[in-house]
Amino acid sequence: MDAAIEIAGLVVDRGGRRVLHGLDLTAATGAVIGVLGPSGSGKTTMLRSVVGVQRVRAGTVTVLGHPAGSRPLRSRIGYMTQAPSIYGDLTVIENVRYFASLYRLGTSAVAEAIDAVGLADHAQRVTRTLSGGQHSRASLACAIVARPDLLVLDEPTVGQDPLLRDELWAYFHDLAAGGTTILVSSHVMDEANRCDELVLIREGVLLHTGTPAGLKAEAGCADLDEAFLTLVRRNEAA
Ligand SMILES: Nc1ncnc2c1ncn2[C@@H]1O[C@H](COP(=O)(O)OP(=O)(O)OP(=O)(O)O)[C@@H](O)[C@H]1O
Ligand SMILES: [Mg+2]
Repeated sequence: MDAAIEIAGLVVDRGGRRVLHGLDLTAATGAVIGVLGPSGSGKTTMLRSVVGVQRVRAGTVTVLGHPAGSRPLRSRIGYMTQAPSIYGDLTVIENVRYFASLYRLGTSAVAEAIDAVGLADHAQRVTRTLSGGQHSRASLACAIVARPDLLVLDEPTVGQDPLLRDELWAYFHDLAAGGTTILVSSHVMDEANRCDELVLIREGVLLHTGTPAGLKAEAGCADLDEAFLTLVRRNEAA
């Protein structure tokens, strides 16, 4: 099967500074791929490059067989930005309905998406009155409503309680089992454990790609947090 995402030699400059220094990545269709790394390491920039909204200095990003950002991809990618981007003066259901209408989808898709993010009881609330975590879940509902082939989620579980986080991760795996590829950023290592593949970046450089088990084995640690630190130190020493 073709790779869902192929990145080769990706270089990105932002604000006159190099922030991605030549990343390579191949991600399989139907996988949950976690992008992990400290704040400012380039996670959002990498996600933006995959979505096709980031100016790229060098390298290629191929998504579902097409150049990132090209027309055939528009209806096939769902993107949840790090800062929720929904209409504050509309209700949850109005926001999701709006995104659904762009894809000519009806009420059942809207209800399913709202239900999946646990907002069924708040569907009629104006989103600006929601809590931070609820607001971010409303944004997630808009990203998933069209059942895209690739979901790009930038820290979707920030501000969620452990129970909700658990439910959202179970939902991501359900989607992946149905063939959706999920590229998700996080800086929480316990979430990294739930990814099929991990991409560890630090200061715009790829530290490691592989399964959580492979990462732990390579670092010789039982714990992912520790494994990450070990790889960082090894990288600095090299
Ligand atoms: N709009 C921008 N203009 C200039 N530089 C930027 C801009 N956005 C991000 N950067 C810089 O690019 C680098 C990578 O930022 P990015 O947002 O990709 O990091 P991140 O890993 O997503 O961080 P976080 O975990 O805080 O979300 C950082 O050095 C950041 O300061
Ligand atoms: Mg970010």
